[in-house]
Order: sequence, then structure tokens, then C-alpha cells
Amino acid sequence: MKAVRVNEWAKPVNVEEIPQPSPANDEVLVRVHAAGVDPMEAGVAAGYLQSMLSVPLTLGRNFAGEVVAVGEDVKHVKPGDAVYGMSPIQATFAEYAAVKAHGVAHKPKSLDDVQAAAVPVVGLSAWQALVDLAKLQKGERILIHGAGGGIGTFAVQLAKDIGAYVIGNEKADNIAFVRQLGADEVIDAESQRFEDVVDKVDVVLDLVRGEYVERSYNILKPRGRYVTTANMLPEGAGKEQGIVAMGHFTQPTVEELTKLAEAIDAGKLKVFVSRTFPIEEAQTALYYQPEAGSPGKVVIQIQ
Ligand SMILES: NC(=O)c1ccc[n+]([C@@H]2O[C@H](COP(=O)([O-])OP(=O)(O)OC[C@H]3O[C@@H](n4cnc5c(N)ncnc54)[C@H](OP(=O)(O)O)[C@@H]3O)[C@@H](O)[C@H]2O)c1
Repeated sequence: MKAVRVNEWAKPVNVEEIPQPSPANDEVLVRVHAAGVDPMEAGVAAGYLQSMLSVPLTLGRNFAGEVVAVGEDVKHVKPGDAVYGMSPIQATFAEYAAVKAHGVAHKPKSLDDVQAAAVPVVGLSAWQALVDLAKLQKGERILIHGAGGGIGTFAVQLAKDIGAYVIGNEKADNIAFVRQLGADEVIDAESQRFEDVVDKVDVVLDLVRGEYVERSYNILKPRGRYVTTANMLPEGAGKEQGIVAMGHFTQPTVEELTKLAEAIDAGKLKVFVSRTFPIEEAQTALYYQPEAGSPGKVVIQIQ
């Protein structure tokens, strides 16, 4: 089967023939139709995680496709089912992927494979950050840094659905898009400092690496919650300021993938795809930047 392989760190990826995997007892073999690209894959290929991973490896965590076979412990899906999900390890930019069963759920019925493949990692990240960690409540105020990106797109819509007052912080080109998602206010990150224009908030979701961590603590109400997927926090972060600071590492669950699918099918969450690439152009897909003003996920179409 064809797969997108990293054979050496910091070198272009190769699309090559490798043996088809077979599923372990707790895995599902998926015929992958499409696979969404996250910023992480370019980072993995560049070697940023080489202390944790070894080469050669097949890139990719998102997928949408069809179940071909299941391991003997797997009961919730069966061959022929249309599924989507997130592999906990890099594996899905390939014609077939053996994925841990807790990362495989039935695909949203209202989406095609390309759209469904754009959802899992970013949708789960937004859901887990807002619902599981921040426990965002109706009527609360939330500030989202990077509100127009992959996770932000879902976080803005989810926060509005929960009934929060949503303030996005984004680069100028993406402001109209974040408004379109339903944000109540959008700060132009390139010309405004959020501290100068925003009153205190209950929750900050920080999706931008580096610059906003400490500054965000000061915009939070006492006992406010700061959640980030983009930054490593030191032990005891936020204690001094009287807030709760949490770093989040996204892991799939069938239950949350299913809830996301239900919210999408109910019309509560819209999915945005900016561009698709064939598997042969995976290297270009990893680094593709959507046109200014029309963000959305990049998806590799596989078969
Ligand atoms: N911990 C985990 O398990 C996990 C899981 C998924 C993602 N992540 C990480 O979480 C972060 C967000 O992921 P994502 O998929 O949403 O990334 P993304 O699609 O690149 O979104 C980031 C957004 O922030 C915008 N931005 C960049 N600099 C900004 C600034 N200074 N102020 C305001 N907005 C700014 C970007 O605009 P431009 O595109 O125009 O630069 C983009 O719209 C990434 O660092 C990713 O690696 C972690």
C-alpha cells in the first residue's frame, strides 16, 4: 500500500509502498479515504519530536474511511462501517491504517470523507479543552487566542453553543472569518493588545505558541481557568495569580468523537476545508498555508 513516510528527520517525506498493517486485538483496520493535516505533522517530519519517536514512520493522525477488519476485542464498529477518528500515534497518511479502537467512531452522516477527515484532532482538542478541562458554562466570558485556526474554529462555535460570550484574538486577515463563526468580539492581534481592550474573562483558551501565556493570567478573574494546547507550563503555573492553568494533550475517545459527530449532524458545528491534495503531494500539503482570509483545514485525499 502507499504511505507517506518519514525516513530521515528534517528531509522531505516520501510516498512509498509498504506492507499493509494487520490489526491487533484492540485495533481497527481502516481503508483510509482522506486524512486531515495538523501543524504537528510538519513538526514531526522536521524532527521536533525525535526524542519520543523513531524513523521510519508513517505520518498522520486524522482519518476518515471504511472499516476493513476489527481485532477480536473490538465491538463498537464492524467491517463496512463508515468511520472517522484520530490515531493516538502517527499512522494515517496511508491507504490502510491499523488504529487503536478508542480512536475510531462512526463518521458524521452529514459530512463527506474529506470534511470528516478535517475534524478529529482539532475537534477533540476544542471539546476536551472547553468541556473537560475549562468546564465552560453558559454566560461565562472566554478569550480564545488563535480563534481562526483549526482548533479555534471549533472552539468558537462550541463556546457559542454552550452559551458563552466569546472574544477571539486573531491576525487581521482572519478576523472576518472568526466573526462569521459567531464570535461576539474579535481583537486584531497585530494592532491591539488584548489587555487594553478586554474586560476580565472566566476562561482563556490559548492556541498560540509562546507570547500569550503569562499575559493571559492577568486578564482572568480570580479562580479563572487558562487552558493551552500550544505551550508547556511549569509546575504550579498560575498559582501566584490565583488562577488555574492547564496544559492539554489531546487523546481520542469514542464517546467524544461520537458527541462531536452528533453536534456536527445537528448543525451546531460547521467544518471548513481550505484545500485538498492527492497523497503524492503530501510534502506540499504539510506546509500549505490557506489563502489570506479563507482559513480551513488541509486534507490529503487518499482513495
Ligand atoms: N497538545 C496537543 O495535544 C495538541 C493538539 C493539537 C494541536 N496542538 C497545538 O495547538 C496549537 C493550535 O493548533 P491549531 O491546529 O489550531 O493551529 P493553527 O490551525 O495553526 O491555528 C493557529 C491560529 O492562530 C493564529 N495566530 C498565529 N499567531 C497568532 C498571534 N500572535 N495572535 C493571534 N493569533 C495568531 C494563526 O494564524 P496564521 O495561520 O495566519 O498564522 C492560526 O489562525 C498548535 O501549536 C498545535 O501544534 C496541540
